[in-house]
Amino acid sequence: MIEVRAPATSANLGSGFDVFGVALDKPADIVRLTKAERTSISVNGAGAEYIPEDPKKNTAGEVLRSLGVTARVEMDKGVRPSSGLGSSAASAAGVAVAANELYDLGLSDDELIHAAAQGEKVVSGEAHKDNVAPCIAGGFTVSDERTTAFDADFHVVVALPDIVISTRDARGALPSSVSIQQRSETVANASHVVAGVLKDDVEMVGAGMYDDVVEEARAPLIEGYDEARDAALDAGATGVTISGAGPALLAVCEREDKPDVAEAFVEGFWNAGVESRAFQARVGDGCQVV
Ligand code: HSE
Repeated sequence: MIEVRAPATSANLGSGFDVFGVALDKPADIVRLTKAERTSISVNGAGAEYIPEDPKKNTAGEVLRSLGVTARVEMDKGVRPSSGLGSSAASAAGVAVAANELYDLGLSDDELIHAAAQGEKVVSGEAHKDNVAPCIAGGFTVSDERTTAFDADFHVVVALPDIVISTRDARGALPSSVSIQQRSETVANASHVVAGVLKDDVEMVGAGMYDDVVEEARAPLIEGYDEARDAALDAGATGVTISGAGPALLAVCEREDKPDVAEAFVEGFWNAGVESRAFQARVGDGCQVV
């Protein structure tokens, strides 16, 4: 039996839609794989009641199929589904890493990321890699066909409002085209995120997280977005963005500002009539065999 800890992740970082992602040091799923002649899946933990155990409908089943193996899969979900923290990616990545170990497949990170992205397709309709890449490689990742992973060590605060948004719906809200000016602004902002990670500069990362295309289209889906975002920025966050497809919000800040930013997030949502909770985290490692 192989057991893997698969971390939560935050995709996009604003300007890097479907490209940027970070691994978080918490929460995480635990995935256990045992050799078996037929694939079976059982799911426990956060939001387990919303996750199908049929291998044809579960992200893990698709990952195993794409790797050409079968196994008994037990998942203990720590990452709540539809929260914007890469829940399906944690399952998919955890299963890919565990299968690689269990069957000694010798796959590279890029190959595992590709396999895990097939699981993402089951959930969102597209095999985007911006959650599975950091979940496997850790740190900050830039992914299209291939993935580049960077060590990153910055502090974040995550707000989880009591709202459910499916990735499919959040993708459906996006415009089908952008202006040349928006494109150029996005490239500039995304470049600042990468430069900020490389320079270990949270002001620069936060400033570059701004996005006026995807974020603008999705913000109306998150009641209290404006209030929570403004409150977190006032409390010292250097940047605030929707985490993945939402509804979670991600703030980047200096370590000492984390408690104030967490409190401000909850207060901001509360002022808009939305219950939420916030937790302090930092950028962390990818999947670990435990
Ligand atoms: N990049 C994806 C999105 C992440 O924003 O739709 C969600 O899985």
